[in-house]
Amino acid sequence: MDNTALKTVQNLIDLEELVSNPLRLKSSFPNFEDSLNVQKIDRAYQEICNWPNYSPTPIVELSDLAKFCGVGKVFYKDESTRLGLGSFKALGGAYAVKRVAGNYSLLGNDIKELVVTTASAGNHGRSVAWGAKQVGCSAKIYIHSGVSRARAEAMAKFGAEIIRIDGNYDEALAECIKKAKENSWELVSDTSWSGYEEVPLDIMSGYGVLMGETLEQMGSVRPTHLFLPAGCGGLAAGLISFLWREMKENLCKLISVESSHSSCILESIKVKRPVFVDIKEETAMVGLSCGEVSEQAWKILSKTLSHSVSISDKAVAPLMKLFLDGKCGGGSIEAGECATSGAASLLAICKEKKYKKEISLDEGSIVLLIGTEGATDIEAYNELISKGSLVV
Ligand SMILES: Cc1ncc(COP(=O)(O)O)c(C=O)c1O
Repeated sequence: MDNTALKTVQNLIDLEELVSNPLRLKSSFPNFEDSLNVQKIDRAYQEICNWPNYSPTPIVELSDLAKFCGVGKVFYKDESTRLGLGSFKALGGAYAVKRVAGNYSLLGNDIKELVVTTASAGNHGRSVAWGAKQVGCSAKIYIHSGVSRARAEAMAKFGAEIIRIDGNYDEALAECIKKAKENSWELVSDTSWSGYEEVPLDIMSGYGVLMGETLEQMGSVRPTHLFLPAGCGGLAAGLISFLWREMKENLCKLISVESSHSSCILESIKVKRPVFVDIKEETAMVGLSCGEVSEQAWKILSKTLSHSVSISDKAVAPLMKLFLDGKCGGGSIEAGECATSGAASLLAICKEKKYKKEISLDEGSIVLLIGTEGATDIEAYNELISKGSLVV
């Protein structure tokens, strides 16, 4: 194995911060009555697995990355082919739209009059727009100034109206909420707050399908470490809930991964309560750009995360190129910007003995990474691959 490229990338990355979570509890899944519970998780699993176009995404072993990092195994769940939409988000937004539409019809309303709306950096909006097209209602998606033209077009392709806001993700969300109230549109947001829980809980339950598939694909093997890319924390909470139910009080080490420009979960862990982070600069990992942890996600993350890390963008492009060239092991993989965040964190942690020790990573460790997206913005993907090839 030629380690040169992995070494080059590792040298580029620094862990911006790593904190351990003092709120972590050792307990079996609480099966929250008012949050994620068995009934919601099972309902989503049964429904989504019966969609006509559903099939599980692959899991691959990154044998070269594992050897380089001195750990037992590294598994990578590859979401680049999820339902033809290119990211795990396809599971959540579309599922929630179908549930909203079902309830709307049950009340005797005409589905054509239903308008669903959300704020999105691209992937959640695509899922909502796709779901709306399938059920036959309208969708209005609020995007922020950093969202690319290609991502906007991918949502518009499903017939959604795209409204661009001059500001960041949180400002786009504020405008979306205001307009939804004024016009009686149905908000399908992937983040939750006090009084707005049902839809985000459905979305998180949908993400649980990803973990259900992963556990099946791993057979009797269970991860010792799971790296969780996080924006508002919905994905992390959905995956953890499924895993918590299965692993009970023996839940593995769970590490959230954020961009240092939007590390709202890490900052919340530090002060043991949710705090708002004002995003001053947009990260290349577009889907991770979120300044506030979802309230329902926090309920789960605060009790289960062992650590929280933040990383810079420095390794995004070269890691995308390494994945494409099959240099992590496991063949050629189409990994989008956010999908590199777990491998980047792992490489950065393994650079320093003290970090490795802090999260108990050794040759017996079974690491699970979530490759959350493929080339969801083909123009940005190609540009980053070109940039990455100048480095590796
Ligand atoms: C590709 C990708 N990865 C990770 C995330 C983070 O998910 P969440 O906001 O549920 O934490 C997102 C969110 O948009 C995303 O699009």
